[in-house]
Amino acid sequence: MNLSFKVTPWEVSGEVDYNQLIEDFGTKKITPDLIFRIKEITGDLHPLLKRQIFFSHRDVDWLLDQYEKDPNFFLYTGRGPSGDTHLGHLMPWIFTKWLQDKFDVPLWFQMTDDEKFYFKRNIELKESNFYAHENALDVIALGFDEKKTHIFSNIEIASHLYPVAALFAKKITFSTAKAVFDFKHQNNLGEIFYTSMQAVPAVLPSILVKKNIPCLIPHAIDQDPHFRVTRDVAPKLGYLKPSSIHCIFLPGLGKKTEKMSASIKESAIYTTDSSEDVKKKISGAFTGGRATVKEQREKGGNPDICSVHKYYYCLFMWDEKEYKQNYEDCKAGRIICGDCKKDLINRINQFLQNHQKKREEARRKLEKFWVTSDKLEDISYIWKK
Ligand code: TRP
Repeated sequence: MNLSFKVTPWEVSGEVDYNQLIEDFGTKKITPDLIFRIKEITGDLHPLLKRQIFFSHRDVDWLLDQYEKDPNFFLYTGRGPSGDTHLGHLMPWIFTKWLQDKFDVPLWFQMTDDEKFYFKRNIELKESNFYAHENALDVIALGFDEKKTHIFSNIEIASHLYPVAALFAKKITFSTAKAVFDFKHQNNLGEIFYTSMQAVPAVLPSILVKKNIPCLIPHAIDQDPHFRVTRDVAPKLGYLKPSSIHCIFLPGLGKKTEKMSASIKESAIYTTDSSEDVKKKISGAFTGGRATVKEQREKGGNPDICSVHKYYYCLFMWDEKEYKQNYEDCKAGRIICGDCKKDLINRINQFLQNHQKKREEARRKLEKFWVTSDKLEDISYIWKK
């Protein structure tokens, strides 16, 4: 095992070797055949797929087989609401929105205010619940279908989730949890129980309609351990194993290729950042430039280690021709880091200006997306006879 990096649902550090993760986690690489199949069905190819930013999966081929027989599945994803949303969080959500558009399916979006309370030292339930609502605005701002998108807080609809979580919890021994998550004696009981809560939405729609519906979970690869356990238990409860599709982490703006981290403020761009914040952060970003402009003109830069370039690749330069041109221009010294930074600042600010407007509009729409206990009343049949 390569020990120079670590990926768990609550810690990502070091330089992540994604192929190694596929092996360690036991997922499958997304093959050109699978991409082709998705393209055949959707009539489109999303850059996040084409560029292998979504690179790994579990049973997506099976899900497509089912879809071709009966076009009925649902999407499930989520967010641990401990603070403002950053661009790294948006990446899987942008892809999820594309999936919703193309397959015309519902999305269940879990805000795990309980999880953040258990796992983070300095946060109160009230705060993580506040961010559940705030972060939902970012989800809505991306344009999800208001009739088909159901966002909920674990704490707020706990009475509906708990009976299902109990079914999972009873089938997960401590020795499984310990093996999967490497729990120590210091871990609290909430942390140990928590996977049962993240498992619930993978089967909840099936319970609601009293019929098994396939589920697809788009998420960053660090969440896979939760779903490994979910997939193990679901069939024992009479439900389908959820399929999943996994993306890499958007790197931070610093030197190391670590994921954009909420704990290092300067390494991430938040959706609430001002244009001045963006300017400051991108101006200070690590690049593959040379010591002097003169040297860079002569020898060229190194886009492969440049964080600005990674932002282009992952989110802000999806046009293939333009991207290749920019890459070559950098290597040949025809453009220098200042040019790219200025351009990226403009792109991000343009994106954020639009996003922030939609985000404010979302405040008025939140109610349409937000799942309350009343809306879920009929689920109670599973524990009330
Ligand atoms: N545990 C995730 C986080 O910390 C939140 C989450 C809950 C999630 N359910 C999910 C993420 C499903 C992806 C898919 O951010």
